[in-house]
Amino acid sequence: MNSHFKKCQFTCLLITSLTLVLIVTSTFVLANGKGHHPEKKMSEHMQSMMAAKEGVPEEYQIMERTPVLPDEDSLQLGSKLFLQNCSVCHGEKGNGKGPAAAALKTPPANFLDIKHSATYGPGDKYWIIGNGTGSTGMPAFTQFTPVQRWNLVNHILQLQQGAQ
Ligand code: HEC
Repeated sequence: MNSHFKKCQFTCLLITSLTLVLIVTSTFVLANGKGHHPEKKMSEHMQSMMAAKEGVPEEYQIMERTPVLPDEDSLQLGSKLFLQNCSVCHGEKGNGKGPAAAALKTPPANFLDIKHSATYGPGDKYWIIGNGTGSTGMPAFTQFTPVQRWNLVNHILQLQQGAQ
């Protein structure tokens, strides 16, 4: 009798703990599943853009304008650097159709697609120029000084103004 009681107690405990484990796991799976759905719908390209944006430190993400005035000097220097280093991928006018573009898995950004390019604000662009975007093929131009990078951002923003 005593041993039968012990056996029953053990079985009851086992069933209770199994039920608990089941509840905890299914709640976890359900909660996680919900969070992952929208990502699946996002295109691969959009995903890589969001990943690039997430890599940008917050202090750059929130910048609304360049701290270097887009005067004639800055724009001229930016344009020169752009033609020497960037147009091979991004195209001379910034339309993403440079001669090397076809060789890349992710097409280089078309800066004239203003809605698309606006995903990255001026601070994001500055940071991406200096650090690259990792998987997409956008190289890190660590050799440029901060002012040179801002000149480049000013030039890109001017190309965009011309396209509006
Ligand atoms: C080897 C090809 C290549 C070169 C050279 C290159 N880029 Fe890129 N760039 C890319 C690719 C690929 C992306 C990612 C496109 C995307 O995710 O939309 C990119 C993205 C960017 C972005 C972010 C997208 C946006 O719309 O703001 C900026 C800014 C940028 N490049 C600036 C430059 C500048 C400035 C230079 C030159 C100093 C340069 N790139 C040189 C390939 C290149």
